[in-house]
Amino acid sequence: MYQKIKGTEDLFGQEMKYWYWIEERGRKLSLLYGFTEIRTPIFEETKLFVRSVGQDTDIVQKEMYTFDDKGGRSITLRPEGTAPVVRAFVENGLIASGFPQKYFYVGPMFRYERPQSGRQRQFHQFGAEIFGSPSPLADVEMIAFVDRFLREIGLVDFEIHINTLGDPEDRLNYKEALKKYYAPHLEHLCDDCKVRYEKNILRLLDCKVDVEYAKGAPKLVDYIGENAKKHYEESKKFLDGLGIKYVEDPRLVRGLDYYNRTVFEVHHHKLGAMSAIAGGGRYDNLIKEIGGKEVPALGFAAGIERLVLAIKAENVHVDDIVTNEVYIAHFGGDDVKVEAMKLAQQLRREGIAVNLEIMERSFSAQLKNASRTGAKLCVIIGENELEKDIVLVKNMETGEQFEFEKNFVVSGIKDMIEDMK
Ligand code: HAM
Repeated sequence: MYQKIKGTEDLFGQEMKYWYWIEERGRKLSLLYGFTEIRTPIFEETKLFVRSVGQDTDIVQKEMYTFDDKGGRSITLRPEGTAPVVRAFVENGLIASGFPQKYFYVGPMFRYERPQSGRQRQFHQFGAEIFGSPSPLADVEMIAFVDRFLREIGLVDFEIHINTLGDPEDRLNYKEALKKYYAPHLEHLCDDCKVRYEKNILRLLDCKVDVEYAKGAPKLVDYIGENAKKHYEESKKFLDGLGIKYVEDPRLVRGLDYYNRTVFEVHHHKLGAMSAIAGGGRYDNLIKEIGGKEVPALGFAAGIERLVLAIKAENVHVDDIVTNEVYIAHFGGDDVKVEAMKLAQQLRREGIAVNLEIMERSFSAQLKNASRTGAKLCVIIGENELEKDIVLVKNMETGEQFEFEKNFVVSGIKDMIEDMK
């Protein structure tokens, strides 16, 4: 038997209700906030991610699904959505269409990480990006959108962490300070951190092993320049004004290289180790890097698998998927079959979910199937009914059976379903 690839998941049945719940609310809310959808390919040239996410990040160093295609091009399954959206924005000349521009996306991402609950190799993100605004108002719109979205899908037990990474020159000074601080402790650090020390020193701060060293490390906030500081202070002031709760987290540095100034991450209290349900921030230099003009930008992405776990952990009521309000059982010749099929079409046109018997089972087997599949009503049509121009409708909850004249059956079934709600 074939098996799915480690770190991937098959989704089906009522599990899909959580996905519909999140995606439908995400799409609707995006439009209300002025974001339009963008769909980009799930693979891109490898160098796009190396350039944007950063050569020395964990993602580029060890997590990308990279392969040569048959034309010898190096291709990578997208590990995240921001770089492709920026690429599309530049390539399609959208840069000339005025600002701000706001896009959202939903889709699979791929990272070769060690799978565990909430961490997969194929996972899905709902994300959004705003292009063109350097103002803290954009940061606040973004964070307010994330907060609203999480509440809209029923979550309350989460915490928004924010920090500022300053501007690139601030970060250079800060990295120097970190190097000095960590140098005497180097031999005691974990193996990963020894590498990070050389390649990506900021990541030492969010190492899960060397927590104690990080606590005493210089704070980025002390190295932030005046403009970035003002930006951060104003963002916080507006968040306060809107009543959006957040926690300042000076150790929040994020795992992708493109960020500057505001960064944020949302943690859910009931998810254990993989508690980050969303993350994002400002990336004012990325669009220029990728080949466009200087356009300030920012965005976020939420992991849908983790949102599902959080919804379950908080016992949020999510509507079931309904596919079987009415079961149509029929037994007889072609005339009866056509009548049954016609009724199925009519009911579906009225928005009623119908399962029509298509296995041509015995009559008793059909009735058994109606009850096995949890139908609310079972319609019965046989030669007898056809002759008398009637249809029988059985209430599967009470066992009561009603006889409808053919012309009244659709409205009768609608009323019965309404009454059963
Ligand atoms: P990220 O923090 O790498 O940011 O990912 C965003 C979210 O995706 C995480 O908070 C988490 O919920 C989910 N996620 C990440 N990796 C996995 C995984 N292996 N399995 C399950 N879920 C995962 C970004 O990707 C940025 N592109 C966000 C952004 C948009 N920044 C600006 N614009």
